[in-house]
Amino acid sequence: MQVLGLETSCDETGVALFDTRRGLVAQALHSQVRLHAAYGGVVPEIASRDHVRCLLPLVRQVLAEAAVQRPDAIAYTAGPGLVGALMVGGGLANGLGLGWQCPVIPIHHMEGHLLAPMLEENAPDFPFLALLVSGGHSMLVLCKTLGDYQVLGTTQDDAVGEAFDKCAKLLGLGYPGGPALARLAEQGSESAYAFPRPMLHHPGLDFSFSGLKTAVMLQVKQATSDGVLDSAVADIAASFQRAAIDTLIGRTLKAAKEVSAKRIVVAGGVGANVLLRRELAARFDGRVFYPRLEYCTDNGAMIAVAGALRMAEAVDATEIRAQARWSLDTLRPPEGMIDE
Ligand code: KG4
Ligand code: ZN
Repeated sequence: MQVLGLETSCDETGVALFDTRRGLVAQALHSQVRLHAAYGGVVPEIASRDHVRCLLPLVRQVLAEAAVQRPDAIAYTAGPGLVGALMVGGGLANGLGLGWQCPVIPIHHMEGHLLAPMLEENAPDFPFLALLVSGGHSMLVLCKTLGDYQVLGTTQDDAVGEAFDKCAKLLGLGYPGGPALARLAEQGSESAYAFPRPMLHHPGLDFSFSGLKTAVMLQVKQATSDGVLDSAVADIAASFQRAAIDTLIGRTLKAAKEVSAKRIVVAGGVGANVLLRRELAARFDGRVFYPRLEYCTDNGAMIAVAGALRMAEAVDATEIRAQARWSLDTLRPPEGMIDE
């Protein structure tokens, strides 16, 4: 069974072909980062237009590379995300589905992220605890089986990726700043500034990153008025990163203890953060699974593999689904799947 996956929820156009016997056969990704950089964030209308420009050529490229003329099904990201951008993927999926007479499978973007480790050889078994950390989400999710997800904690304000991006902007690192901030942090001292570890001692499992962001902003202002910002940026970056990662790890270990998790999956763009990957593996008394770096950020492969796992839900191409908001815990296991 061959599933074509289309990802267009935000600022990456991702296409991939997943074969249930052979695994991932081909994939292509186009990043819009340079288009949005001038605006300091994603401009929805520009994102939609660029998906229109790039999606079909990428589909052609992936099918040619895979030597496949027509897949058995098309999976597309149906939300959450920018509605105009989602409509591009959903529209093409349904158009191709009608033309090829093959069914389509609407996929939840965050389920795609948490299933991305299934693309690896040592894929995790259910149940596992997932730390989903991206530009739009910071969540701890108990994944009991495919489609049975319980959100244990979420952010009360900014997502952690957003906090990385905003702090990077304050430090003059451009957009998206997460990877640039992480690189700069390598040259700084993480104990230079005592930034807060938000919520670490609060009950529950929610996150909050706005206080940390404000602390960084005040420090940047201070360093600017003292005329020492240039020499302080690496230390601020390193101290911020340490505070943010300590917060994520503290919450994750607390959740793991509460649900007696033996496996943790880290997924989403911030899952590419090397400090997070290294420290969580060292501090958790169980196995930690990560997708490889290129499958942490948005991509078509995670949507294709999620589609293959949700094949039972394939429907005729008649309706484009595009939801800006869509809670992960409203998902259900695919019909016909035996729940353990
Ligand atoms: O999952 P993703 O590609 O898109 C969303 O669905 O949001 O995540 C993008 C986010 C951005 O905020 C980016 O700055 C952050 O992931 N990110 C990182 C790193 N690489 C990407 N944050 C910290 N360290 C990194 N190495
Ligand atoms: Zn994402």
